[in-house]
Amino acid sequence: MNVLVTGGCGFIGSNLVKYLRKHRPAWTVVNLDKLTYAGNLENLTELEKDPKHVFVKGDIGNRELIDHLIFQHKVDAIMHLAAESHVDRSILGPEAFIVANVLGTNVLLEAARHAKLSRFLMVSTDEVYGSLGPTGLFTETTPLDPSSPYSASKASADLITLAYEHTFGLDVVVTRCSNNYGPYQFPEKLIPLMIANALADKPLPVYGDGKNVRDWLQVEDHCAALTLALEKGQKGGVYNIGGNSERENIQIVKMILAAVGKPESLIKYVTDRPGHDKRYAIDASKIKRELGWTPAHTFEKGLAETVKWYLDNRPWWERVMSGAYKTYFDSQYAHRLQG
Ligand code: NAD
Ligand code: TYD
Repeated sequence: MNVLVTGGCGFIGSNLVKYLRKHRPAWTVVNLDKLTYAGNLENLTELEKDPKHVFVKGDIGNRELIDHLIFQHKVDAIMHLAAESHVDRSILGPEAFIVANVLGTNVLLEAARHAKLSRFLMVSTDEVYGSLGPTGLFTETTPLDPSSPYSASKASADLITLAYEHTFGLDVVVTRCSNNYGPYQFPEKLIPLMIANALADKPLPVYGDGKNVRDWLQVEDHCAALTLALEKGQKGGVYNIGGNSERENIQIVKMILAAVGKPESLIKYVTDRPGHDKRYAIDASKIKRELGWTPAHTFEKGLAETVKWYLDNRPWWERVMSGAYKTYFDSQYAHRLQG
């Protein structure tokens, strides 16, 4: 099997590429990534000399390049992860999200349709469902009701993917996963940002009252689910993926401070994110029942391992937090920290 992974130098993508090389050693993985601020080849240093990992720097919106890669590497299937992925950035500037997430996905779907690929796996998100109240879970039949420019762009891509199955018969599978955490996550998302700031004795910016809830999943568990969905998912099927680990943001921040031995006085409540979704929680019973997936990590164990990874890999996150990220941090967070 030759699989084209898009966004393979990002957080989930780089974990997925390594997961596939380890657990599906016969497969060749072609990794197409534009190397935006969030993509980093350093995440894949251990695969530098691996002949079955082919890295190509490029944009998913480049149809000629996609056609060429499919032909040159005899690609059988696409696992599509490339995206602009951060809600706060989508509030600062939605356009890049429409271009990459909506238009970029459509270019890939067109290429997959014309090349008659055997499968197109769309890595969507639970955020397409919008926000839950205090009770209930998202199921695959929950109506899509996205609220941020990010989640609206992902919902568009998710629905266009399903339309390609319905209209053109393309073999697609869509996955909708909850919040991931683990090694190599860019430190603009909650968990790595809080670890990095705590280690640097900087304030930890908690939006609003800190009681928003996310349902956390360790990234390798997500990678295992994506692999199963690619191999065994039903054509046109949608699969929710989640860790059954709901936590309030403030609980997580306090767990991180305790893990690194820093005081809770570093917590700084700041102005809330506009349109901040209150709660996400996933019913993942379909993928467990139909594909036999189960997560291997508990949240406590997974978070402790993640904190250790960031402690052991300080040069990695210090490097990615400098440069382009610093400009963003200064504009996005500096004023919030005064709020
Ligand atoms: P990320 O921001 O860490 O990585 C995205 C990668 O895509 C980067 O390497 C970037 O360079 C690449 N990319 C962006 N635009 C591109 C383009 N036009 N062409 C080629 N490459 C491009 O994101 P992530 O957290 O790893 O998320 C990966 C996917 O999983 C996304 O589709 C996201 O919506 C989805 N997802 C993420 C989570 C989560 O908690 N992180 C949860 C559910 C679903
Ligand atoms: P995030 O990691 O950005 O993921 P998403 O918005 O896709 O769920 O945020 C997770 C939660 O943490 C969300 O409720 C917003 C909150 N949050 C903060 O309170 N402070 C922060 O600095 C960040 C980045 C997030």
